[in-house]
Amino acid sequence: MSVNPVTQPEQPAATNRAPERSKRAAPSSSDLTDLPPAMPLAALLILLLGTIVGALAAVIILPAWLPGLSASLLGSEPKAYWYLSRSSAVVAYTLLWLSMVFGLLMTNRLARLWPGGPGAFDLHQHTSLLGLAFAIFHALILLGDRYISATIDQIVVPFTYSGYEPFWVGLGQLSLYGMGVVGFSFYVKQWIGRALWRLIHFLSFAIWILSLLHAIMSGSDTELLTGFYWFSGGSVLFLTIYRILITGWPASRLRDKSQPSS
Ligand code: HEM
Repeated sequence: MSVNPVTQPEQPAATNRAPERSKRAAPSSSDLTDLPPAMPLAALLILLLGTIVGALAAVIILPAWLPGLSASLLGSEPKAYWYLSRSSAVVAYTLLWLSMVFGLLMTNRLARLWPGGPGAFDLHQHTSLLGLAFAIFHALILLGDRYISATIDQIVVPFTYSGYEPFWVGLGQLSLYGMGVVGFSFYVKQWIGRALWRLIHFLSFAIWILSLLHAIMSGSDTELLTGFYWFSGGSVLFLTIYRILITGWPASRLRDKSQPSS
Protein backbone atom coordinates (compact mmCIF):
# COMPACT_ATOMS: atom_id res chain seq x y z
CA MET A 1 0.00 0.00 0.00
CA SER A 2 1.53 3.29 -1.05
CA VAL A 3 1.75 6.18 1.35
CA ASN A 4 0.15 9.36 0.10
CA PRO A 5 3.00 11.56 -1.02
CA VAL A 6 1.06 14.64 0.06
CA THR A 7 1.23 13.49 3.66
CA GLN A 8 4.96 12.94 3.79
CA PRO A 9 6.19 16.53 3.95
CA GLU A 10 4.14 17.08 7.13
CA GLN A 11 6.81 16.05 9.60
CA PRO A 12 9.83 17.82 8.10
CA ALA A 13 7.73 21.00 7.98
CA ALA A 14 6.99 20.65 11.69
CA THR A 15 10.68 19.98 12.35
CA ASN A 16 11.66 23.32 10.81
CA ARG A 17 9.16 25.24 12.89
CA ALA A 18 9.63 23.66 16.29
CA PRO A 19 12.50 21.24 16.63
CA GLU A 20 11.85 20.74 20.33
CA ARG A 21 8.24 19.59 19.98
CA SER A 22 8.49 17.83 16.63
CA LYS A 23 10.11 14.74 18.11
CA ARG A 24 6.92 13.82 19.87
CA ALA A 25 4.13 15.82 18.25
CA ALA A 26 2.11 14.36 15.38
CA PRO A 27 -0.18 16.50 13.24
CA SER A 28 -3.46 17.15 15.08
CA SER A 29 -6.51 15.20 13.93
CA SER A 30 -7.99 18.35 12.40
CA ASP A 31 -4.81 18.83 10.31
CA LEU A 32 -5.09 15.23 9.15
CA THR A 33 -8.71 15.47 8.11
CA ASP A 34 -7.78 18.49 5.99
CA LEU A 35 -5.47 16.35 3.86
CA PRO A 36 -6.61 15.33 0.36
CA PRO A 37 -7.94 11.76 -0.19
CA ALA A 38 -5.28 9.07 0.10
CA MET A 39 -6.54 7.20 -2.98
CA PRO A 40 -6.97 9.20 -6.22
CA LEU A 41 -10.60 9.30 -7.41
CA ALA A 42 -9.69 7.66 -10.75
CA ALA A 43 -8.08 4.72 -8.92
CA LEU A 44 -11.16 4.31 -6.73
CA LEU A 45 -13.51 4.36 -9.73
CA ILE A 46 -11.40 1.77 -11.56
CA LEU A 47 -11.32 -0.41 -8.44
CA LEU A 48 -15.11 -0.29 -8.00
CA LEU A 49 -15.84 -0.73 -11.70
CA GLY A 50 -13.47 -3.70 -11.87
CA THR A 51 -15.17 -5.24 -8.85
CA ILE A 52 -18.65 -4.84 -10.32
CA VAL A 53 -17.65 -6.10 -13.78
CA GLY A 54 -15.72 -9.04 -12.28
CA ALA A 55 -18.60 -10.14 -10.04
CA LEU A 56 -21.20 -9.81 -12.81
CA ALA A 57 -18.93 -11.66 -15.25
CA ALA A 58 -18.64 -14.53 -12.76
CA VAL A 59 -22.39 -14.86 -12.25
CA ILE A 60 -23.75 -14.00 -15.73
CA ILE A 61 -21.11 -14.33 -18.44
CA LEU A 62 -19.28 -17.43 -17.18
CA PRO A 63 -22.36 -19.73 -17.01
CA ALA A 64 -23.88 -18.35 -20.25
CA TRP A 65 -20.79 -18.38 -22.46
CA LEU A 66 -18.90 -21.29 -21.01
CA PRO A 67 -21.51 -23.68 -19.61
CA GLY A 68 -19.12 -26.66 -19.72
CA LEU A 69 -16.39 -24.91 -17.76
CA SER A 70 -18.95 -23.43 -15.41
CA ALA A 71 -20.53 -26.86 -14.72
CA SER A 72 -17.19 -28.49 -14.03
CA LEU A 73 -16.15 -25.66 -11.72
CA LEU A 74 -19.41 -25.34 -9.87
CA GLY A 75 -20.92 -28.84 -10.00
CA SER A 76 -24.61 -29.68 -9.68
CA GLU A 77 -24.91 -27.99 -6.27
CA PRO A 78 -22.83 -24.89 -6.77
CA LYS A 79 -21.30 -23.68 -3.53
CA ALA A 80 -18.50 -21.68 -5.12
CA TYR A 81 -20.53 -18.47 -5.18
CA TRP A 82 -21.53 -18.96 -1.56
CA TYR A 83 -17.92 -19.45 -0.49
CA LEU A 84 -16.84 -16.43 -2.53
CA SER A 85 -19.57 -14.34 -0.97
CA ARG A 86 -18.77 -15.46 2.57
CA SER A 87 -15.04 -14.97 2.27
CA SER A 88 -15.39 -11.53 0.67
CA ALA A 89 -17.95 -10.66 3.39
CA VAL A 90 -15.49 -11.43 6.17
CA VAL A 91 -12.73 -9.47 4.40
CA ALA A 92 -15.12 -6.52 3.90
CA TYR A 93 -16.15 -6.54 7.55
CA THR A 94 -12.51 -6.81 8.69
CA LEU A 95 -11.49 -3.86 6.49
CA LEU A 96 -14.40 -1.79 7.78
CA TRP A 97 -13.39 -2.62 11.34
CA LEU A 98 -9.74 -1.67 10.61
CA SER A 99 -10.94 1.57 9.08
CA MET A 100 -12.81 2.37 12.33
CA VAL A 101 -9.72 1.46 14.36
CA PHE A 102 -7.34 3.66 12.34
CA GLY A 103 -9.83 6.54 12.32
CA LEU A 104 -10.16 6.36 16.09
CA LEU A 105 -6.38 6.01 16.55
CA MET A 106 -6.06 9.28 14.63
CA THR A 107 -8.60 11.18 16.65
CA ASN A 108 -7.72 9.82 20.08
CA ARG A 109 -4.04 10.39 19.30
CA LEU A 110 -2.90 6.84 20.02
CA ALA A 111 -1.62 6.85 16.41
CA ARG A 112 1.45 8.60 17.76
CA LEU A 113 2.52 5.27 19.20
CA TRP A 114 1.85 3.48 15.89
CA PRO A 115 1.68 4.03 12.91
CA GLY A 116 1.93 7.84 13.16
CA GLY A 117 -0.76 10.34 12.18
CA PRO A 118 -0.22 10.37 8.39
CA GLY A 119 0.17 6.58 8.32
CA ALA A 120 -3.09 6.13 10.22
CA PHE A 121 -4.78 8.58 7.85
CA ASP A 122 -3.67 6.59 4.79
CA LEU A 123 -4.60 3.25 6.35
CA HIS A 124 -7.97 4.62 7.49
CA GLN A 125 -8.92 5.67 3.98
CA HIS A 126 -7.48 2.70 2.11
CA THR A 127 -9.15 0.14 4.40
CA SER A 128 -12.45 1.98 4.13
CA LEU A 129 -12.39 2.09 0.30
CA LEU A 130 -11.09 -1.46 -0.12
CA GLY A 131 -13.80 -2.59 2.31
CA LEU A 132 -16.38 -0.95 0.07
CA ALA A 133 -15.03 -2.87 -2.96
CA PHE A 134 -15.12 -6.20 -1.09
CA ALA A 135 -18.64 -5.50 0.21
CA ILE A 136 -19.86 -4.80 -3.35
CA PHE A 137 -18.32 -8.06 -4.51
CA HIS A 138 -19.86 -9.92 -1.54
CA ALA A 139 -23.34 -8.64 -2.46
CA LEU A 140 -23.16 -9.08 -6.25
CA ILE A 141 -21.60 -12.55 -6.25
CA LEU A 142 -24.64 -13.73 -4.23
CA LEU A 143 -26.56 -13.55 -7.52
CA GLY A 144 -24.93 -16.85 -8.43
CA ASP A 145 -25.98 -18.58 -5.20
CA ARG A 146 -29.05 -20.76 -5.76
CA TYR A 147 -29.89 -21.03 -2.06
CA ILE A 148 -30.07 -17.23 -1.58
CA SER A 149 -31.74 -16.97 -4.99
CA ALA A 150 -31.92 -13.18 -5.17
CA THR A 151 -32.52 -10.99 -8.21
CA ILE A 152 -30.38 -7.96 -8.98
CA ASP A 153 -33.05 -5.52 -7.79
CA GLN A 154 -33.45 -7.46 -4.53
CA ILE A 155 -29.71 -7.11 -3.99
CA VAL A 156 -29.61 -3.45 -4.92
CA VAL A 157 -32.79 -2.12 -3.25
CA PRO A 158 -32.68 -2.36 0.56
CA PHE A 159 -35.32 -4.55 2.25
CA THR A 160 -36.79 -5.89 -1.00
CA TYR A 161 -35.20 -9.34 -0.61
CA SER A 162 -37.70 -11.76 0.95
CA GLY A 163 -35.71 -14.99 1.30
CA TYR A 164 -33.11 -15.83 3.94
CA GLU A 165 -33.04 -13.43 6.97
CA PRO A 166 -34.48 -10.51 4.97
CA PHE A 167 -34.39 -7.92 7.77
CA TRP A 168 -30.73 -8.57 8.64
CA VAL A 169 -29.80 -8.65 4.96
CA GLY A 170 -31.55 -5.27 4.67
CA LEU A 171 -29.26 -3.88 7.37
CA GLY A 172 -26.27 -5.08 5.33
CA GLN A 173 -27.67 -3.29 2.29
CA LEU A 174 -28.05 -0.03 4.25
CA SER A 175 -24.54 -0.44 5.55
CA LEU A 176 -23.16 -0.88 2.02
CA TYR A 177 -24.77 2.37 0.83
CA GLY A 178 -23.53 4.11 3.97
CA MET A 179 -19.99 2.92 3.23
CA GLY A 180 -20.35 4.35 -0.28
CA VAL A 181 -21.58 7.73 0.97
CA VAL A 182 -18.82 8.04 3.57
CA GLY A 183 -16.17 6.81 1.11
CA PHE A 184 -17.12 9.34 -1.57
CA SER A 185 -17.52 12.16 0.94
CA PHE A 186 -13.69 12.33 1.09
CA TYR A 187 -13.76 13.53 -2.53
CA VAL A 188 -16.42 16.21 -2.23
CA LYS A 189 -15.36 17.74 1.08
CA GLN A 190 -14.34 21.03 -0.50
CA TRP A 191 -17.83 21.43 -2.04
CA ILE A 192 -20.04 20.25 0.81
CA GLY A 193 -18.09 22.04 3.54
CA ARG A 194 -16.35 20.76 6.62
CA ALA A 195 -19.43 20.70 8.89
CA LEU A 196 -21.53 18.50 6.59
CA TRP A 197 -18.54 16.29 5.86
CA ARG A 198 -18.00 15.73 9.58
CA LEU A 199 -21.68 14.92 10.04
CA ILE A 200 -21.54 12.35 7.23
CA HIS A 201 -18.33 10.96 8.69
CA PHE A 202 -19.96 10.40 12.06
CA LEU A 203 -22.39 8.08 10.25
CA SER A 204 -19.50 5.61 10.18
CA PHE A 205 -20.39 4.52 13.71
CA ALA A 206 -23.95 3.64 12.66
CA ILE A 207 -22.72 1.96 9.47
CA TRP A 208 -20.28 -0.17 11.37
CA ILE A 209 -22.94 -1.23 13.91
CA LEU A 210 -25.31 -2.11 11.04
CA SER A 211 -22.65 -4.26 9.38
CA LEU A 212 -21.80 -5.96 12.68
CA LEU A 213 -25.48 -6.80 13.29
CA HIS A 214 -25.83 -7.93 9.68
CA ALA A 215 -22.76 -10.15 9.92
CA ILE A 216 -23.82 -11.76 13.20
CA MET A 217 -27.47 -12.27 12.30
CA SER A 218 -27.27 -13.24 8.63
CA GLY A 219 -23.99 -15.14 8.75
CA SER A 220 -24.92 -18.77 8.32
CA ASP A 221 -22.07 -20.28 10.29
CA THR A 222 -20.87 -17.60 12.64
CA GLU A 223 -19.63 -19.79 15.53
CA LEU A 224 -16.05 -19.53 14.28
CA LEU A 225 -16.40 -15.81 13.80
CA THR A 226 -18.18 -15.03 17.06
CA GLY A 227 -14.91 -14.41 18.91
CA PHE A 228 -13.77 -12.04 16.20
CA TYR A 229 -17.05 -10.12 16.31
CA TRP A 230 -16.73 -9.74 20.10
CA PHE A 231 -13.10 -8.66 19.78
CA SER A 232 -13.77 -6.15 17.00
CA GLY A 233 -16.84 -4.77 18.76
CA GLY A 234 -14.96 -4.46 22.07
CA SER A 235 -11.97 -2.76 20.46
CA VAL A 236 -14.07 -0.11 18.70
CA LEU A 237 -16.00 0.53 21.94
CA PHE A 238 -12.77 0.85 23.92
CA LEU A 239 -11.16 3.23 21.41
CA THR A 240 -14.33 5.31 21.22
CA ILE A 241 -14.57 5.68 25.01
CA TYR A 242 -10.86 6.49 25.16
CA ARG A 243 -11.36 9.12 22.49
CA ILE A 244 -14.18 10.75 24.43
CA LEU A 245 -12.14 10.78 27.62
CA ILE A 246 -8.96 12.11 25.98
CA THR A 247 -10.14 14.64 23.41
CA GLY A 248 -13.80 15.27 24.20
CA TRP A 249 -16.51 14.32 21.75
CA PRO A 250 -17.76 17.65 20.43
CA ALA A 251 -16.66 18.51 16.93
CA SER A 252 -16.17 22.09 18.09
CA ARG A 253 -12.98 20.99 19.82
CA LEU A 254 -11.57 19.65 16.59
CA ARG A 255 -12.72 22.71 14.69
CA ASP A 256 -10.45 24.85 16.82
CA LYS A 257 -7.32 24.58 14.76
CA SER A 258 -5.39 26.84 17.06
CA GLN A 259 -5.52 24.23 19.79
CA PRO A 260 -2.19 22.50 20.45
CA SER A 261 -2.06 18.87 19.34
CA SER A 262 -0.36 17.48 22.43
C1 HEM B 1 -26.17 -5.10 -0.67
C2 HEM B 1 -25.56 -5.36 0.47
C3 HEM B 1 -25.47 -6.72 1.14
C4 HEM B 1 -26.18 -7.87 0.90
C5 HEM B 1 -27.29 -8.11 -0.12
C6 HEM B 1 -25.69 -8.87 1.82
C7 HEM B 1 -26.16 -10.16 1.92
C8 HEM B 1 -25.70 -11.13 2.80
C9 HEM B 1 -26.24 -12.45 2.94
C10 HEM B 1 -27.42 -13.01 2.13
C11 HEM B 1 -25.51 -13.09 3.87
C12 HEM B 1 -25.66 -14.53 4.34
C13 HEM B 1 -24.77 -15.36 3.45
C14 HEM B 1 -24.61 -16.75 3.94
O1 HEM B 1 -23.79 -16.96 4.82
O2 HEM B 1 -25.30 -17.61 3.43
C15 HEM B 1 -24.49 -12.17 4.36
C16 HEM B 1 -23.56 -12.47 5.32
C17 HEM B 1 -22.54 -11.60 5.71
N1 HEM B 1 -22.35 -10.31 5.28
FE1 HEM B 1 -23.48 -9.33 3.92
N2 HEM B 1 -24.66 -8.32 2.56
C18 HEM B 1 -24.51 -7.01 2.19
C19 HEM B 1 -23.60 -6.09 2.70
C20 HEM B 1 -22.62 -6.39 3.62
C21 HEM B 1 -21.65 -5.47 4.13
C22 HEM B 1 -21.58 -3.98 3.76
C23 HEM B 1 -20.82 -6.15 4.99
C24 HEM B 1 -19.64 -5.67 5.80
C25 HEM B 1 -18.90 -4.66 5.54
C26 HEM B 1 -21.29 -7.52 5.02
C27 HEM B 1 -20.71 -8.53 5.76
C28 HEM B 1 -21.24 -9.80 5.91
C29 HEM B 1 -20.67 -10.82 6.77
C30 HEM B 1 -19.40 -10.69 7.63
C31 HEM B 1 -21.48 -11.96 6.65
C32 HEM B 1 -21.31 -13.29 7.38
C33 HEM B 1 -20.57 -14.29 6.53
C34 HEM B 1 -20.64 -15.66 7.17
O3 HEM B 1 -20.70 -15.78 8.37
O4 HEM B 1 -20.64 -16.63 6.43
N3 HEM B 1 -22.39 -7.63 4.18
N4 HEM B 1 -24.64 -10.98 3.67
